[in-house]
Parts: sequence; structure tokens; C-alpha cells
Amino acid sequence: MNKESWGSRLGLVFAMAGNAVGLGNFLRFPVQAVQNGGGSFIIPYLVCFLLMGLPLLFIEWGLGRYGGQFGNHSTPFIFNSVSKKFIWKYVGIFGIFCNLTIAAYYCYIESWTLAYIFKSVSGAFAGKSSEEVAAHFGAYVTLSDSYMAVFFWLICLALNVYILSRGLSGGIEKVAKIGVPLLIIFGLILAFQGVTLKAGMKNAIYDGTVGLNFLWTPQFNSLWEPKVWLAAAGQVFFTLSVGMGSIQCYASFIKKKDDIVLNSLSAGWMNEFVEVVIGASIIIPISIGYLGIDKVVELTKSGGLGLGFKTLPYLFQNWGAVLAPIAGMLWFGLLFFAGITSSLAMGFPCMSFLQDEFNFTRNKAAMTFGAACLLLGAPVVFLGIYDILDEYDYWAGTVSLFVFSLLETILFVWVFGIDNAWATINQGADFKLPKFVKYILMYITPTLLIFVFVKNIPEIIDKIMHREIYHKIATTTDPATLEMLNNKLLFTNLSRLLLVAVFIGIGILVFVANKKRQKLSAI
Ligand code: PHE
Repeated sequence: MNKESWGSRLGLVFAMAGNAVGLGNFLRFPVQAVQNGGGSFIIPYLVCFLLMGLPLLFIEWGLGRYGGQFGNHSTPFIFNSVSKKFIWKYVGIFGIFCNLTIAAYYCYIESWTLAYIFKSVSGAFAGKSSEEVAAHFGAYVTLSDSYMAVFFWLICLALNVYILSRGLSGGIEKVAKIGVPLLIIFGLILAFQGVTLKAGMKNAIYDGTVGLNFLWTPQFNSLWEPKVWLAAAGQVFFTLSVGMGSIQCYASFIKKKDDIVLNSLSAGWMNEFVEVVIGASIIIPISIGYLGIDKVVELTKSGGLGLGFKTLPYLFQNWGAVLAPIAGMLWFGLLFFAGITSSLAMGFPCMSFLQDEFNFTRNKAAMTFGAACLLLGAPVVFLGIYDILDEYDYWAGTVSLFVFSLLETILFVWVFGIDNAWATINQGADFKLPKFVKYILMYITPTLLIFVFVKNIPEIIDKIMHREIYHKIATTTDPATLEMLNNKLLFTNLSRLLLVAVFIGIGILVFVANKKRQKLSAI
């Protein structure tokens, strides 16, 4: 029996906010915004937040609490409490699959932030050129100089396992209550530096406001480009942690009388504040202040994580021998807290499944999660040069989210029925949601989800067929590059097989768990 519960309402909101606020807010959001034209990204982003993000929060909090009343804390069986049709249990596989596979690469990035705190404080970037700082990161993640990255990865996994083994109120809630306020304070300090950066001061070329204007001046020209909408919707999903099975699990421990309208809105808006106010005011104004818009747009083309790990630590050096290490510590410290409160939220749903269905103790469940992250993370860590991380992120961290959210919306709003759904969401609420939200839930959210998914199909097919790699293979003559591309093809295929195997494996576990339940109820 799973006897976890939340200690306090404040703890719950902090944990949910910590779940949502993550690397996505500080690393992914700015890069997505820059890649998609700054001001042209913001309108689709806000529309997707209001019409898909918030409604999905209500749906997931509602689903979670409803399933929790029957003692179910993992999506397969939370869904089963809503509809007994056998298919829904298997839709619930996504809720474990996404958490586990995202955690497998997320914990690795989280471990870089831990290592980079130490590097910043010990002055590892002092006096280095921009190329040297960038090369340092390249060497670190490809393990070409040392196995330091593996060491920090293991520490990070161990830390996650330890906190998870302390449970919801004894571990996760405590870390969130410290981590979330701290990261907000660190973020505000850096955002202040970013916004007040002045051309000519500290070697900056442009004011910090140049970057902010780039982001905040709405552009209407690319408003009709599907690509921008896809990126915006994907970012809203990732940052709010919706479509992953994580919120449903946390929500399944909420009491019957608790207010999910207010709580979900608090956590959701807190995430948006951290993303669009703080997250947008660090990387973008600082990097554009030193490098200009064109160069920063160029830098984001070669992958998203570079700006945070290659560029920022170098730029901080302009702030002097005292401020540079402090800025580095604040930046990587905030990333670490943002990361860990999110990876814990990925671990807990996996654990709850094992605890509920297979009577695992909390310790054993936490260790099993750690071991699974180790196995699934190994290809990401050891085959870094083949971009396995991007492969995981695309299938588990992007495509799955759309599929899962669409299906759960159908389940909650149409199968369970809007009246039941509405009653569940508003149960215990101090202020009830206005009626028009009902229509958004019923028509607008699913339509948008279908629309975005359908628009995504050509790109998904391109990915499945490896069109980009084949194109590169066809246009290169250099034997070394060719070998590298062929290897990439092989390892990408193997990693896809692994993901499929994980999905099927979880499916088998759900099947076995269901059989066990049937046997028990027959007695
Ligand atoms: N929302 C988190 C972020 O912005 C990511 C996350 C994914 C958290 C899955 C929990 C579950 O980084």
C-alpha cells in the first residue's frame, strides 16, 4: 500500500512548481524563442499556454486526484479508474515511459550543471578565450579528456535516488521548499544584471534591452508558419510538464477536499513567471549584449545547450575576477535546483507504479528507478557524439507528449464526460472556473492538439526515414565524415529500438499488474 501524502498546501504548490520549473525554462525557452524569430514566437507561445497548457493542467490535476481516490498513483491505473475499457490502461504506459526516458537524459544534463558550479567557483574559465571555453564543454560531454562527466552523472543519480527514497513529504517537498525559492532569487539577481547591462560597460557592445526588444516586440509576419506553432506548443508542454504523466502522479496524492483550481493555477503561473520573466532575461540579453542578434541566432542553430554551457561562462568573465565566479555559481546553481526538482518529479511516477502494483518498498523503488536511468542513460552518456540525447528528446520529450495529451483529453472530457470532469476539477475549489473554460476543454484544446499533431506528421516521417542523415551521406565525400554518419545511423536506430523495447516492457508490466489485480479481486 502506498501511504505517501503531501505535508502542506504550500509544499504541494512548491513541489508542483519545482516539477514544472526546470532546465526547460532557462535553457530550452530562450533557445526556442531565438530560433523561431524572437517576437514571432511569443504570440503563438502565449496562445498555446492559454488554450492548451492551462486546460491540460486542469485535466491532469483532475485525472490525478480522481485516480488517487481509488488508491491509484500511476497513469495506467489512474486511467483505469476513469474507464474500465482495457485500452486506457495501455495508453497510460506513456505516463511511465515519458518520465523514465526523459529522466535518462535529463539527469545527465542536470549533472553538467553540478559540475559547472564547481568549475565556475574554482575559476576554470578565467582568462580563457571563447573557443577554449566552448572546447572545454565539447571535451567534457564527449568524455574525450576524462571521465569527469560520468563521475558527476553518477553523483547526480545517487542524489536523486536518495531524495526519492525519503518520499513525498520527507524528500521531494523539502527539496522543493528550499530549491524553488533559491532558484528564483538566483534568477532574479542574474536577470537584473541582464536587463541593466549597458553598452560600453563590462565590455558589452549592446544594451541588455536590445535582446529583450528582440524577444518582446511582437512580429506578425511568421505568425502563420506551422513550424513556429509547433515549436511554441512543444515548449509549452515541456515547460509545464504536461503530457508526461508527472503531474497526474503528484496530483494523485492530493486530498479530496483540496482546491485544484487554485493550486494548479498557482503552480502554472509561477512557472510562466520564471520562464518569461526570469528565464527570458538572462541568456538572451546577456548573450545578445555581447555578441549581437545575428551571432546569437547563428549559435542556436548548432544545438540548444551551447549558449548556457559554452557561451555564458565565457561572457561572465567580462564581469571581473570576483563577479565572474559568483555569476557562474548563481547560473549553474539555479539550473541545478531547477533540474533536480524536475527530475524528482519524473522519478516519482515510476516509483509509484512499482510501489502500487508490485509492492516495492520506497527504497527499492527509488533504486530501481536509478538503475533504469543508468541503463537508459548510458547510450546518451557514452555515445555523446552521435546525438542520442536529441533522439530521446524528440521521441519521448516531444512527439509522445502530443499523443499522450490528446488521448488523455479525450479520456477525461469525452469518455469520462464533461460533467464528471467539471465536477472533479471544481471539487473543493474556493472559486469555481468560469463556464467558458468548459468549452475550451471540450472543443478548443482537443482541436488544437489534433491540428498541431497533424502538422507534425511530415516532420515525424522525415525523422523516421532519417532523411536528414541520408541527405548528408549523399552530399559528403570525406570518408571520416561518412563513417561518422553511418555510425550515427546505426546508433540512432539502436536507440530507437531501445525506446520501443522500453515502451513494450512497461506494457508487459502493466499487463502483469492487471492480471494480479484481477486475481486479487476474484478472491
Ligand atoms: N518541466 C520541466 C522543465 O521545464 C521538465 C519536466 C519533464 C519535468 C517531465 C517533469 C517531467 O524542464
